[in-house]
Amino acid sequence: MNDKVFVFDTTLRDGEQAPGNQLNMVEKIEVAKALELLGVDIIEAGFPISSPGDFDSVVQISKAVTNPIICGLTRAVQKDIEVAADALKYAKRPRIHTGIGVSPYHIVSKLNSTPEEIIRRGVDAVKYAKKFVEDIEFYCEDAGRSENEYLARMVEAVIAAGATVVNIPDTTGYCLPHEYGAKIKYLIDNVPNIHKAILSTHCHNDLGMATANTMSGVYNGARQVEVTLNGVGERAGNTALEEVVMAIKSHKLGVYTDIVTPRILQTSRLVQRLMKSPVQANKAIVGKNAFAHSSGIHQDGVLKNRENYEIIDPKDVGVDESSIILTARSGRAALRHRLELLGFKIDGADLDKTYQDFLHLADVKKEVKDNDLLVLVGKEQRDANRAIKLDSLQVVCGKSMIPSATVSLIIQGETKTETAMGDGPVDASYNAVKKLIDKEIKLLEFLIQGFNNGSDDFGQVNVQIECNKTIYYGFGADTDIVTASVEAFVDAISKSME
Ligand code: KIV
Ligand code: ZN
Repeated sequence: MNDKVFVFDTTLRDGEQAPGNQLNMVEKIEVAKALELLGVDIIEAGFPISSPGDFDSVVQISKAVTNPIICGLTRAVQKDIEVAADALKYAKRPRIHTGIGVSPYHIVSKLNSTPEEIIRRGVDAVKYAKKFVEDIEFYCEDAGRSENEYLARMVEAVIAAGATVVNIPDTTGYCLPHEYGAKIKYLIDNVPNIHKAILSTHCHNDLGMATANTMSGVYNGARQVEVTLNGVGERAGNTALEEVVMAIKSHKLGVYTDIVTPRILQTSRLVQRLMKSPVQANKAIVGKNAFAHSSGIHQDGVLKNRENYEIIDPKDVGVDESSIILTARSGRAALRHRLELLGFKIDGADLDKTYQDFLHLADVKKEVKDNDLLVLVGKEQRDANRAIKLDSLQVVCGKSMIPSATVSLIIQGETKTETAMGDGPVDASYNAVKKLIDKEIKLLEFLIQGFNNGSDDFGQVNVQIECNKTIYYGFGADTDIVTASVEAFVDAISKSME
């Protein structure tokens, strides 16, 4: 028999929690709708008590999507549960995800409690949540480092209290695949009422084992997987949705998911773009090189028979092999078609504006690639929302010269200009920006990357600044890397003014 594995997506909760991944409400709804089209079964939309923004995101996502179950996270605390139930009131199929730490570390050093007391608190939380909604998932936090015998007692107790799903998180990403699989098997073999609930995996990637652990969990009987697009998440991230779904699809394990796999790439790109977090080129399934064969022997083999070197048909994950090459001679229709494949719906005046920007770019670059378009469209959306805009930038630099920069910014409608010197063109430009901004700004991190190959490439810059004891992230992209650097700096400063 082929069993269904439920896909629980936590990109908007565990994924969004990671530094730099924050989305605004419009972006969260865009991701939630894309997740619905992708066919996920459950969307974890936020942790309602943690902030008004998270509360609102659970409310708005509940209103915006129809098919998936909408889930809100809580601690095993009555107030958390009440707030989550309130946030979920518009969800057609609400779920409360409550739980508590179960490892010796959590019980003693985090919760200052005892194993029996923790079971009692878990059971009380499930019973309380059950007063508001029928579907209750219970997480046994840090289950990866808990003792199996104790974990089994906890699982049995929360199922008896009414939990419909029990989540076994490897919160710290500590387990090895055989250990995690054995833990799931132990629960299936030793919890008498296990048939009344679904066991869920939730694996973090601290040792790079998240996908392997999740698959080991499924292999041993878990029927829900908790995942994020591109594996985004705190520290080394969560389990990547695309990896687990394609591993299940590629192997005959007697299980399946309802994910519409040809939508994987565009959904992955949407998340990369909105979280400003591009995946590395060799990322499984969705990386730029995931289906690129560069060695002569491989190219020859693939041309003879794709399966010689490819285990997945690229079309199965949405890689469009026959992509139209966009150049300065391409028309609006070709651009719109390509943008649609990348997950953007742009028409009318917006398309005209994007088309003009595209033509400027195509004049600089011979061929405009997908990644260039992602940056181009993202740039317009970023610019539209900024409190400060870069108006012009002029730098003088070179060997045996002291670099200097003149920067003009539009601040609240007024154009202001300053000149400064520095160690290099970026440093000089940043010094000029700092002169224009009446705030103490500390640059904490600066990262510059190219997207494609070639000297005409877009440079993308991610920065992290500290202002008024708060950290802000900024992103900029341009074929001119100094402009990209200043855009990123201005983006971060703008955020500090919101
Ligand atoms: O990693 C974890 O333990 C979690 C729980 C809150 C589900 O994210
Ligand atoms: Zn987690």
